[in-house]
Amino acid sequence: MKFFVDTADTADIKELAATGLLDGVTTNPSLILKAGRPMKDVIAEICDLVEGPVSAEVTATEADAMIAEGRSLAAIADNIAVKLPLTLDGLKACRTLTDEGRMVNVTLCFSANQALLAAKAGASFISPFIGRLDDINIDGMDLIREIRIIYDNYGFETEILAASIRSANHVKDCALVGADVATVPPAVLKGLVKHPLTDKGLEQFLSDWAKTGQSIL
Ligand code: E4P
Repeated sequence: MKFFVDTADTADIKELAATGLLDGVTTNPSLILKAGRPMKDVIAEICDLVEGPVSAEVTATEADAMIAEGRSLAAIADNIAVKLPLTLDGLKACRTLTDEGRMVNVTLCFSANQALLAAKAGASFISPFIGRLDDINIDGMDLIREIRIIYDNYGFETEILAASIRSANHVKDCALVGADVATVPPAVLKGLVKHPLTDKGLEQFLSDWAKTGQSIL
C-alpha cells in the first residue's frame, strides 16, 4: 500500500519525505487555508519535495471552469494530480483532463456508485472519505471494501485512495481490505511506527550492550 500525507505543511512533508516512506501528498482548500500561504507557491514547493503525485484541488464548480483551473494547476509540475469533486461537472472535467493525459483524483466520494462513475470517467484516483462517514455512524471501511470488489469485478485501474483517515486502525484496516493508497495526516503517519514494547525492548538491549563494553565500529 502506498502512503500519501494529507497536509500542505511543507515542514512535515520534508520530514516524512526524508524517511523514504512517502509516496505522494494530498491537499484540499481547507489544508491550504491552514498553511496560510498562496496555493500555487505551496503546491510548487511540495512538488519539489516529493516525486510522487501531489493532489491540488480546483475550486470552480462548473466543468469548463474546472478544466481551466485543472490545466493551470497541472502546469505547476509533472507530478500534479488535479483534484476534482464528485459531481457531474467534476466527472465531465475528469474525462477531459484524463484524455489530455493528466492525473486526476476524484474527491469527496461517499458511495460505491460514485466511485463506479469516477472509474468510468477515467480517474487515476478515487478518494472515499472514511472518517467523515464514521462521523455520521456509517462504516467508512465498508465503502472501501465495496469499491475494491467493484473495481476488481471490472478491472478498473483507478486507484483507491482511502482518505479522511483519523487513526492507526484506519490505516491497518485499509491495508487489510486492499486500498491502493492511504492518505494520512502527518501525526497519524508518524505514530504508525510507535509501540511501547519496541521502546522497552530497545532500552533493555542498549543497556545490556553498554555492559558488554564493546563497540561495533
Ligand atoms: C483527502 O484528500 C482529504 O484531503 C482529506 O483526507 C479529508 O480529511 P478530513 O475528513 O479529516 O478533513
